[in-house]
Amino acid sequence: MSDALVQRFRAARRDRGLAVLEGFHALKHALRFGAEIVEAVASDPKELERLAAELAPDLEGSLTGRVEQVSAGEIERMVPHAPRTGAVAIARRPPVDVAAVLAGGRAAPVVLLEDPRTMGNMGACVRVAAAADAAAVLTTGSNDPWHPEALRGAAGLHFALPVAAVEVLPSADRPLVAIDPDGEDADLRGLSPRSILAFGTERYGLSEELLDRADARLAIPMRTGVSSLNLATAVAAVLFARRLLR
Ligand SMILES: C[S@@+](CC[C@H](N)C(=O)[O-])C[C@H]1O[C@@H](n2cnc3c(N)ncnc32)[C@H](O)[C@@H]1O
Repeated sequence: MSDALVQRFRAARRDRGLAVLEGFHALKHALRFGAEIVEAVASDPKELERLAAELAPDLEGSLTGRVEQVSAGEIERMVPHAPRTGAVAIARRPPVDVAAVLAGGRAAPVVLLEDPRTMGNMGACVRVAAAADAAAVLTTGSNDPWHPEALRGAAGLHFALPVAAVEVLPSADRPLVAIDPDGEDADLRGLSPRSILAFGTERYGLSEELLDRADARLAIPMRTGVSSLNLATAVAAVLFARRLLR
C-alpha cells in the first residue's frame, strides 16, 4: 500500500466535502442509506463480507470486490483510533438544502443543536434523530457535525437524514421550541409534529437569542437535585417521548 493512500484518508478528515467512516457499522449504515463510497479499505475484507452477510444481509454483495486489503498497522496510520473491525472508508457527503429541509411538509421535527461541543455527543444526537425518524439535524457553532468522531458516534447514520451546519437558524414556518431545564414541564401532546426542537450547548445551555426567538420553552421533568440531562440523552427523551405518544 502506498503512502498516498494513507495521506488521502488523513486529508479526507479535513475535507468538508467528504466523510470518513470508521468501522463496519458506520460503513453498513452509510451503504444502507445510499452513501457514495469513494474508497474503502480493511485489514480483512473477507471478515468484513462475513460480517455483512451475518448482520446486514440486505447489503449482500455491495462490499464484494470494493474493499482494498491493507495491514492493521496501515489502518492505524490512517485514523487516530483504529476500529475493532479493521474497516475504514471515505464517502462523499450528500448536499443539504437547508431551506428545502425547513419547508418540508412531513410531520417530523427538526433537531437544532446550538453550538454542540462534544463530537461523540453530536454523533449520538444524529443517531437518535435518525432512529426516531426526525426530519433533520442542524447545528450552529464552529464544530463540524460531519467530523469523523461524530460520524463514529452516529454509527454512520448521517446518511439517513439531512445533517448540516448553519450559521444561524433561518426563519421557517415551523414553531421553534426551546428544550430547556428552566422551561415549563413539557406536555408533548400539544406540540406541532413539525416543530424545530432546539437543544443547548453542553455547559451553558441555550443562548438568550434563541430563547427570545422561541415560541415555547419546555423542560423534561427531573428528580429534585439533578440539574440537567446529557445533551444526547435530552434529545432522545424528547424525540422518543413524542414518538411513543403516537
Ligand atoms: C447538558 S444540558 C445544558 C445544561 C445547562 N447548564 C443548562 O442549564 O441548560 C444540554 C442541553 O440538554 C437539554 N436538557 C438537558 N436536560 C434538560 C431538561 N431536564 N429539560 C430540558 N432540556 C434539557 C437542554 O437543551 C440543554 O441546553
